[in-house]
Amino acid sequence: MTSFDDFDEQNSPRPASDFSKILDRAVSRRSFLQTGAAFGVSTFVAGTATFPHSALAKDKLLGFAAVAANTDDTITVPAGYTWHTVASWADPLFSDGVDFDPTSRGTGASQERAIGDNTDGMKLFHLSENEGVLVTNNEYVNKAIFHPNGVNNADDVRKSKAGHGVSVYHIKRESDRWAPVIDGRFNRRITADSAMEITGPARAHELLKTQADPEGIASKGTWNNCGNGSTPWGTYLACEENFNGYFASTDDSIETSEAQDRYGIGKKDWGYGWYKYDQRFDIAKEPNESNRNGYVVEIDPLAPESAPKKRTALGRFKHENAELVIADNGKVVVYMGDDERGEFLYRFISKEKYQPDDQSANRELLAEGTLYVARFGEADQNLSGNGKWVELSVGENGLDEESGFPSQAEISVYTRLAASRVGATTMDRPEWVAAHPTKAELYCSLTNNKNRGIKPNAGGDDTPVGGPNPREANLYGQIVRWRPVGSDHTSDSFDWDLFVLAGNPTVHAEGLEAGSDNITPDNLFNSPDGIAFDQDGRLWIQTDGKYSDEGDFAGMGNNQMLCGDPETGEIRRFLVGPKACEITGVTWSQDYRTLFIGVQHPGANDDYPSTFPGGEGTVPRSSVVAINREDGGVIGS
Ligand code: FEO
Ligand code: CA
Ligand code: CA
Repeated sequence: MTSFDDFDEQNSPRPASDFSKILDRAVSRRSFLQTGAAFGVSTFVAGTATFPHSALAKDKLLGFAAVAANTDDTITVPAGYTWHTVASWADPLFSDGVDFDPTSRGTGASQERAIGDNTDGMKLFHLSENEGVLVTNNEYVNKAIFHPNGVNNADDVRKSKAGHGVSVYHIKRESDRWAPVIDGRFNRRITADSAMEITGPARAHELLKTQADPEGIASKGTWNNCGNGSTPWGTYLACEENFNGYFASTDDSIETSEAQDRYGIGKKDWGYGWYKYDQRFDIAKEPNESNRNGYVVEIDPLAPESAPKKRTALGRFKHENAELVIADNGKVVVYMGDDERGEFLYRFISKEKYQPDDQSANRELLAEGTLYVARFGEADQNLSGNGKWVELSVGENGLDEESGFPSQAEISVYTRLAASRVGATTMDRPEWVAAHPTKAELYCSLTNNKNRGIKPNAGGDDTPVGGPNPREANLYGQIVRWRPVGSDHTSDSFDWDLFVLAGNPTVHAEGLEAGSDNITPDNLFNSPDGIAFDQDGRLWIQTDGKYSDEGDFAGMGNNQMLCGDPETGEIRRFLVGPKACEITGVTWSQDYRTLFIGVQHPGANDDYPSTFPGGEGTVPRSSVVAINREDGGVIGS
């Protein structure tokens, strides 16, 4: 794989802050963007912006020294910080497991008892200050590294299915180092073969019935779990993203349907070979199996015997993450991106209300509710505007029998088609959504989109340049921010602006390619992906982009993690990852003195080989890394 991007194909205005006034003086402004942005300081200016960080000294939220970009094969953290590896792909979770064998790289049996590959979204469920249950997605496997001899037999496929899914394991802190507890009572592997329950409008619908499950209520497995979410009632949300790449057809004469085409389900898989040994993945034999994937999956980490629940009410698409908030009226609101070029941004509102004093009453809140998709208005000269949530319910907005949606089940399964029907705004690959901890303000990374203004999405919807997607063939990505009107998460109206437009002012002196004025030669990055807030309101930004460090990407180095101040707009680089990795997944210890991140697919590119984390002569392995401060302080402060 050459880059993840190729793989992934498939108002209430606030006054400008003092910081923006500093920037106003420090930089030369673009002629057509003369005023501050709606919510903050991200004015859009020519790329000669340089300013000393001393200008930011009064900013208390970001208290660390910025890290310089680099292309080293290690983790780089700020002065005064340390890091250590918590766990890596193939580390056994049980005493009957076997240690990683760098020659064979494991078997089906060993992988089923060990941590999966490609760590992604994660959440630490705290048991105490020094112990917790870490849940991590294992998005996919790096075929060249995972299968050094290729995918040749049933055991290779068994191993591949077990390399996917979710790893749940007890971790403990001793002498400032976190490590897994072997045989911990919550330790569990969820794989592409684990029993799942289907809930919501599509449960038991014809579209979900298969030979193995004629009732359409119990699917098998989850895979390609990308970002995550979590709930205040203690469950984890694993989001199924590129689920399509595992299906193929043994019969070349079949015709794929419009819906299959929209979701990228075709006659060839992405090289995993599962269909050769498990007919679930052969669309000629099981055309409905793929309708049972592409959902948010709710997992109870403290109940190892419980079946994960697929939440069809939250729609079927290439889910990135699921950011959950409780609205003032007690309803559960989940914001979700569909990561594909020209796909959409969604919101779910539960039917019932959250009961803070009775957690057992909350267990099925995600089974029933109303789904919406975002329609963004035009951008004003500050690249800000307003928008609406459009309801995706039968009988609303032209969704009815005649248009192919006779019941809510069809909307739940063919969500992309329903959203196209109501005129949703095609976006630049919506990745993670993050909610500010103390105010109704949401952020979504729009990672990049080489097709913007050039090609329609897979459903034929135009992808015009405009709104929160202002650049043709968007190379660098941006983070859109919106506020529900009245600070009410259930309001159907919102105001938006761009928190940052990534760019490269050292290469592009002018124009939108230079980025917004909070991009400087000191914090260059491309392709924001994972984002999350800590409890103090720092916005952590992880990247999954180009790491050539050349041309348009000169000075950006390897993929990285940065930290943003939503008030001032400042963004500072916090960490640089090893070669060819992406940094994805973020969670904290209870005291916020350890930050956990995922280093996914180091060295998954022959041109950028890595030996992370073991060092010279070792096989690169996706890993969870813990970051501490030498003085034991709160990370980032
Ligand atoms: Fe799995 Fe959209 O990143
Ligand atoms: Ca991602
Ligand atoms: Ca990504």
